[in-house]
Amino acid sequence: MSDLIQRLCDAIENGQAMDPEDLSTFIQHVAARTLSVEHITQWLRTVHKNGISSKDTVLLTKGMMHSGAVLTWDPERLIADKHSTGGVGDKMSLMLAPALAACGVEVPMLAGRGLGHTGGTIDKLEAIPGFSCELNPAQMQTIVDDVGCCIAAQNEAIAPADGLLYAIRDVTNTVDSIPLITASIVSKKAAEGLKALVLDVKCGRAAFMTTHDDARSLAASMVGAAKGLGIQTIAQITDMNEPIGSNVGNALEILESIEVLNGRGSADTVNLVAMQGGALLMLLGLAKDQHAGEEKIISSLKNGKAALRFERMCVAQGVAKETASQLMASPHAVLPRAKHITHLLVEGDGFVEGIDAMTLAEVARTHGAGRFKLEDTIDAAVGFVLSRSKGDRVITGQDWLEIHHNQPLTEQQNKALMGALTISKRPILPLQRLIEIVE
Ligand code: URA
Repeated sequence: MSDLIQRLCDAIENGQAMDPEDLSTFIQHVAARTLSVEHITQWLRTVHKNGISSKDTVLLTKGMMHSGAVLTWDPERLIADKHSTGGVGDKMSLMLAPALAACGVEVPMLAGRGLGHTGGTIDKLEAIPGFSCELNPAQMQTIVDDVGCCIAAQNEAIAPADGLLYAIRDVTNTVDSIPLITASIVSKKAAEGLKALVLDVKCGRAAFMTTHDDARSLAASMVGAAKGLGIQTIAQITDMNEPIGSNVGNALEILESIEVLNGRGSADTVNLVAMQGGALLMLLGLAKDQHAGEEKIISSLKNGKAALRFERMCVAQGVAKETASQLMASPHAVLPRAKHITHLLVEGDGFVEGIDAMTLAEVARTHGAGRFKLEDTIDAAVGFVLSRSKGDRVITGQDWLEIHHNQPLTEQQNKALMGALTISKRPILPLQRLIEIVE
């Protein structure tokens, strides 16, 4: 095995292409868990240090995609999905999958749990009593056949090579490598058997990629790899300085999503869902352009069709029928609620210049909305409801933040949250989420 690793590492260090057969053998051994951690670490460190070409990134992604089950569908079916690099209040998948299903697109979505300060779609769904994300590939296919969408937790059946590579990257400081991130994300999405993919690459203080240049490089790399595997792909680079929509925290994000699915909710959230869904409808030829795609997604939210798909998905994934219908009609009665709600008030007159998403995420995580260690349990009720956003005119004494918590708030947390709101005397333009499109 040492010879194989040495050949691969030599090629990378010399800026040459890796031998495709060697690379494929390496990935198979990673998936079968027949390589030592030391050998895998040597290869990861070499890629992390030197990078690899976009051609090798496609080969790596393809190999990882085929390291486990790959969902297959009749060629005429319109199978699509999205991936987000993770944000604060990023609940888009909860609305996007059913909205797309209502528009004739099928979505076999694999999603993750919270990573670092960002929340995970699976943790959010598990705030719904009975909701199970533990689906095997056959169950995913059955639910998509029946409902049009499902949301399953990433598991060892799909792209198992990524499971081990990611775990080793995490403890060897090799996570932040564009080709490794690309192969990790795109291999799992490609194994869903997609025709089209939209990538939401977050950019800002509360994102994985803090600078526009880094976000653009990651977007270009992921678009290149996904297209190299024959998937029509578009990336949207979006702002991740301000929290998304009105609610942050697992159960509170389900609540906001149901508002949106019922034709109401925050304009920021509706616009992001429409932007992602609109791009997919355009790529799949179901809309003549982005705008027409967005209109279709918004109609599905207004006419109740997306809500119906969401309710059916809940039932297909283990929620009792009565609970699912009560969830759609009065979500407060079904979802966990925090013991305490503390209100923060605006101090000073002017315009909201910004609300620091990272500060909110860190406090929420300390109160149990996210994890510090893999084995930490989530407190689904913890989070925030924001009643102001960037550009709003505010006056002293107005409510701007509800803190939902079960543990006492410390003086320091209170201060940090008050500092998250900055007010300007001069008018501020509302937030522009979309920064750039990469195709
Ligand atoms: N999410 C993933 O699934 N993989 C990465 O490498 C980074 C984020």
